[in-house]
Amino acid sequence: MSSLPHIDSTKLPRHIAVIMDGNGRWAKQRHLPRLFGHRAGITSVREIVRVCGELGIECLTLYAFSSENWTRPTTEVKALMRLLQQYIGRELPELQKSKVRLRAIGRLDGLPEGPKAKLLSAIDATSQNKGLTLVLALNYGGRQEIVDACNKAMASGHSKLDEKTLQRYLYAPDCPELDLLIRTSGEMRLSNFLLWESAYAELYVTKTFWPDFRKAHLYEAVADYQRRHRRFGGL
Ligand code: FPP
Repeated sequence: MSSLPHIDSTKLPRHIAVIMDGNGRWAKQRHLPRLFGHRAGITSVREIVRVCGELGIECLTLYAFSSENWTRPTTEVKALMRLLQQYIGRELPELQKSKVRLRAIGRLDGLPEGPKAKLLSAIDATSQNKGLTLVLALNYGGRQEIVDACNKAMASGHSKLDEKTLQRYLYAPDCPELDLLIRTSGEMRLSNFLLWESAYAELYVTKTFWPDFRKAHLYEAVADYQRRHRRFGGL
C-alpha cells in the first residue's frame, strides 16, 4: 500500500495505548446488534497487534474492559467476556509465533473464572517471549490502579510516598513510559484510562470507529506523533 505515511524507525513511540471506542456505533450504522461491533473490533485488535510487532513497538496497552463496563446490560457483559476468552484461545498460537508477551492490568480477581483462567494461562505461556508486550486492561480503572498502588505500598510498610515509590506499585511498573495514547471514535475523554501513566503522553483522537481502525490509521497516528515536539513541561 503506497499511501502509508512514512514512519521514522529511529523515533518510534516505545509504548502505545488505545481506547478502542465506537464498536456500538459501528454496529448501529449497519443496523446490527452491538455485539457485532465488538466482534468486528477483534479483527482490528489482531491487525494492530501484528503491525505494532512488525514496527518494533515495545508495548501496546488496549482498554478491553473498564471497571465501569459492568454496568452495561448483562448480555453485553457476558458477550464481551466470551469474546475475550475466544480471542485468547484462538490467538495464542499466533501470539507465540510472533513472540508476543501477553500481560494484563486491572482487578483481574473480579473477572469470571473462565476468561480469567484462559488469560492467566496465556500470560504464563507467553511470559518468556521477547517481542511486543501486549497488555490487556481488564476490569481496569485508572483511579482504582492508583488506590491499589497506595494500598500495596502501605501494606509493604511505606508510610510516606513519593512519585517514584508509588510508580513501583502500579499494575505494570516495568512497562516503558506511555508515549502515545490513541482514542478512536472522536470522544475527547480519558475515561479513567491510565491516569497516572498518561501524564506526558501525546494524545491522538481519530473519528474512525475501532472496528474500522487498521494499519493505515495506526501509521497515521504514529506519523502524527513523530511530527510533534515533546517538551515534558520544559521549553
Ligand atoms: C467501546 O465501544 C469498546 C468496549 C467497551 C470494548 C472493547 C472490546 C473489544 C474491541 C473486543 C474485545 C477485546 C479484546 C482484546 C479481546 P462501545 O461499545 O462503548 O462503543 P459505542 O461508544 O459506540 O457504544
